[in-house]
Amino acid sequence: LGSTEVDLGQISEGQVVSIKWRGKPVFIWNRTKAQVEEAKKVDLGQLPDKSARNENLPSDADAADANRAAPGKENWLVVVGVCTHLGCIPLSNSGDFGGWLCPCHGSHYDSAGRIRRGPAPENLHVPPYAFEGDSKIKIG
Ligand code: FES
Repeated sequence: LGSTEVDLGQISEGQVVSIKWRGKPVFIWNRTKAQVEEAKKVDLGQLPDKSARNENLPSDADAADANRAAPGKENWLVVVGVCTHLGCIPLSNSGDFGGWLCPCHGSHYDSAGRIRRGPAPENLHVPPYAFEGDSKIKIG
């Protein structure tokens, strides 16, 4: 019940797609090297939410890019597309931190989906998912 398979082969470098999983949008982003580097160089001390918010990791994992991205495939970022403030759907490739902008009250998320400015209290959540082969993931 409730799992969704996604073929990543169709998602070109730099592209974000939105799919539906359990009635919610999930964003799958094939990040460029520059976008990954941008996310990696952020000092974790600057982050409003220092938790990975990644359902695939222990709850005390920190918000380093490696704990947000797919294991061993750091270009892939998979996050639930629901703003952690009041649940609007953030806009991709928007905002001041290279990730998403929530149009409702101005929460800015970075290229690892971490909240950087605005009222949202938490990073975008990483749903449970796993790779099946090299270019397919199963969410849920
Ligand atoms: Fe996203 Fe309020 S719902 S900023």
